[in-house]
Amino acid sequence: MTENLKLSLTDTHAHLYLKEFSEDRAEVIGNAMAAGVDSFYLPNIDSTSIQDMLELEAAYPDRCHAMMGLHPCSVQANYEEELDLVKEWLAKRPFCAIGEIGIDLFWDKSTLAIQVDAFKRQIGWAKELGLPIIIHSRESTGLILDVLKDEKDERLRGILHCYTGTISQAETAWSLGFYLGIGGVVTFKNAGLDKIVEALPLDWMVLETDSPYLAPVPHRGKRNESAFVRLVAEKVSQVKSIDIQQVAEITTLNAKNIFEKKTLAYTTLS
Ligand code: NI
Repeated sequence: MTENLKLSLTDTHAHLYLKEFSEDRAEVIGNAMAAGVDSFYLPNIDSTSIQDMLELEAAYPDRCHAMMGLHPCSVQANYEEELDLVKEWLAKRPFCAIGEIGIDLFWDKSTLAIQVDAFKRQIGWAKELGLPIIIHSRESTGLILDVLKDEKDERLRGILHCYTGTISQAETAWSLGFYLGIGGVVTFKNAGLDKIVEALPLDWMVLETDSPYLAPVPHRGKRNESAFVRLVAEKVSQVKSIDIQQVAEITTLNAKNIFEKKTLAYTTLS
């Protein structure tokens, strides 16, 4: 129905540099652009993903934007070394954000203390550099909000990627300077995210895929790709009974607001 409408959508969270795309990466990006997705924000994972991420950014310098950070699931015994590398990169060149960082209690609860330590240290660097943070939370929304309350100042801002909390948690997040990342989960039956999206202002939201994970219906369970941001936008427009054009305009503007202030790298991070 809206197939031919020209939109300008933004995928604020896509791991397009991963091996899942090594056979057809250019085609995946071409398909996304044909679907109206013209900007891609690439969250880092850990030391093993940096090179591939930066190569992708170099291939599409106007469209792909790299972040730097250590993913909570990669916070393991060697996390000090991993953080040193993040810090080294932050001093070397500009990035659009620090991410993805946060707390994940689904995969491993035993690393909670070091996850919180890594999260807080990276928040500190984001403040020093004037960068937004892109937060991964799984079974930890309350804990994340507690950390953000402690860390709150005028420099703190970013996105709660793949938002799955409650309406009241969303209100708290917004008051702390955070947008809600809305992805394929909004199309899942019984996930409840559609109710959250319906109840809250579009001004609080950005769209994302988390490619190659969390593909929206009707691709659920298969590889996700950035073209499917359009399916997320369609679902949001249905749920909120507004035009998809308006969904695209507002969420892309929100993404620009978050990411546009690029700061030069410092060499003096604490
Ligand atoms: Ni991610």
